[in-house]
Amino acid sequence: MEIERVQDISSSSLLAETIPSEFIRTEKEQPAITTFKGPTPAIPVVDLSDPDEETVIHAVVKASEEWGIFQVVNHGIPTELIKRLQEVGRKFFELPSSEKETVAKPEDSKDIEGYGTKLQKEVEGKKAWVDHLFHRISPPSCVNYRFWPKNPPEYREVNEEYALHVKKLSETLLGILSEGLGLSSDALKEGLGGEMAEYMMKINYYPPCPRPDLALGVPAHTDLSGITLLVPNEVPGLQVFKDDHWFDAEYIPNAVIVHIGDQIQRLSNGRYKNVLHRTTVDKDRTRMSWPVFLEPHREMIVGPLPELTGDDNPPKFKPFAFKDYSYRKLNKLSLD
Ligand code: OGA
Ligand code: NI
Repeated sequence: MEIERVQDISSSSLLAETIPSEFIRTEKEQPAITTFKGPTPAIPVVDLSDPDEETVIHAVVKASEEWGIFQVVNHGIPTELIKRLQEVGRKFFELPSSEKETVAKPEDSKDIEGYGTKLQKEVEGKKAWVDHLFHRISPPSCVNYRFWPKNPPEYREVNEEYALHVKKLSETLLGILSEGLGLSSDALKEGLGGEMAEYMMKINYYPPCPRPDLALGVPAHTDLSGITLLVPNEVPGLQVFKDDHWFDAEYIPNAVIVHIGDQIQRLSNGRYKNVLHRTTVDKDRTRMSWPVFLEPHREMIVGPLPELTGDDNPPKFKPFAFKDYSYRKLNKLSLD
């Protein structure tokens, strides 16, 4: 059966000026009702070019403890490369459906790689206003070019170059986060499986939506990853849950948004917080984002680092192989 893409639903909905009922959230989730309207606190911003190492560590640690999310500037990924990454991704999504479908996630695939639309309805039976493309970009042994667009032709070269930069930045951040826990700088990288850890690229494509007050892009969730490094386009939409409120994230051109995911929360025994976040959509403009999820490989067992637990600091999480953790979370099974 053909899977219906949100991009096509968007076209017909814009004409009709209404959206199918399965996209209309309950009042508990509708962004128009649940977005905080007072003065919005800014997500912390960390300048990675600051020569004062202690200042950088302190800022990253504080943001990861209090927010679980921060934006980094002067991060070393060339602005030009980010622009090219966005350009090739946008060009792919603007291809005719038949071309996009050549890299669709196969129906019988157990993996998430490929072009797709979340089929599974959520708890309340609602659908997300977003299509996506997933493919691993590192390590090279995990890359399956079958799911990398052939068009535009520069897609591969740009993503390969981005993979090198995003890995370097991720390792820098994991080093800082490790030192912030009083550990050696490679502790969290090793906790995620060292060089076996995988970098999963996702492109989110949120087409215009005639009722952005009622629909959501991705609903509230924490990432399964260790950390997620995300670059958005210029259309705002990311929201973060803190102190019982949904706050809009500020768009800072060329910044990289760093999310603390479930695995770093677990490795740090809860010192670092996995941020709850969601996205809204825009009435007239297409929003896109490029998160890269740094994840342990399937068999890697992740639990609190032994250096961080002791008699007066008992482990707060049970260790799980990443494949089991993911399965249990997605199927809402117990993680205790
Ligand atoms: C995600 C996500 C946020 C965004 O894909 O996991 O949270 O800004 N995306 O698109
Ligand atoms: Ni996310």
